[in-house]
Amino acid sequence: MAVDASFEKVAIIGGSGVYAIDGLSGWSPKTVTTPYGPVEVAEAVSPEGVPVVFLNRHGPGHRLPPHRVNYRANVWAVRALGCRRVVATGAVGSLQPLLAPGFLVLVDQFLDFTHNRPTTFFEGGEAGVVHADMTEPYCPNLRRRLAEAARQAGLDVVEAGTYVATEGPRFESRAEIEAYRRLGGDVVGMTGLPEVVLARELGLCYATLALVTNLAAGLAGHRLSHDEVLAAMAALGKRLGAMLAEALPALAEPWACACGPAPGPLPAAPGGDDAP
Ligand code: HPA
Repeated sequence: MAVDASFEKVAIIGGSGVYAIDGLSGWSPKTVTTPYGPVEVAEAVSPEGVPVVFLNRHGPGHRLPPHRVNYRANVWAVRALGCRRVVATGAVGSLQPLLAPGFLVLVDQFLDFTHNRPTTFFEGGEAGVVHADMTEPYCPNLRRRLAEAARQAGLDVVEAGTYVATEGPRFESRAEIEAYRRLGGDVVGMTGLPEVVLARELGLCYATLALVTNLAAGLAGHRLSHDEVLAAMAALGKRLGAMLAEALPALAEPWACACGPAPGPLPAAPGGDDAP
């Protein structure tokens, strides 16, 4: 297995329910200082020699709700540590009755309905103005390899889909879900944006593994609860961690794609800590 020296480390940003990567040991915790505030991560090396960084998106103890996650600090931290490939997990509701709880979706497009989050590293001034291309926001090479690994692990996986990002932390109304469905959405979640956009701005290969935990509002025949989402995640999270550990060598293979190199140098660091 060849580890691509220009993509030294693989980052895994774990969402709800994915708090560890089973199968890897020797994790060493680390605090990364970023212009947006400190970020806690853990680093390890897989038995095949792939260095991996694990970051819990919601912070230690899952303290931050989706609209308060420090997305810029998280993405900056993994890039600063030398990661060029980022696999993110996230719980989602399904807008398609055939996409049942338990499915994994390697989304290839998004619709962004978030409205109260810092969405760019490029705030003008010294950082400059950048209009990052979003034609293909999720890395096709990462998606394909993750889909193969999921299939090999016996998981139900779909290789494409449109992720609808909502502001949360509330769930959606029935009418919202119906509207998102008509717009072409397949799954709905609260944490996929702006993470993917920030990763694109830094030229990273990025993929989201969307884990279907429930049918979205109005499709399930009952009201949604966070407990329902957590229970579904608990069932899937462990299998997913093991699958990711198995997938690491494939994720570190050399490949050419349009995700990187970064469109420019890291933006000038804004002064101070603006963590939400
Ligand atoms: N809506 C938004 N976010 C979610 C859902 C949902 O139904 N399930 C898990 N995350």
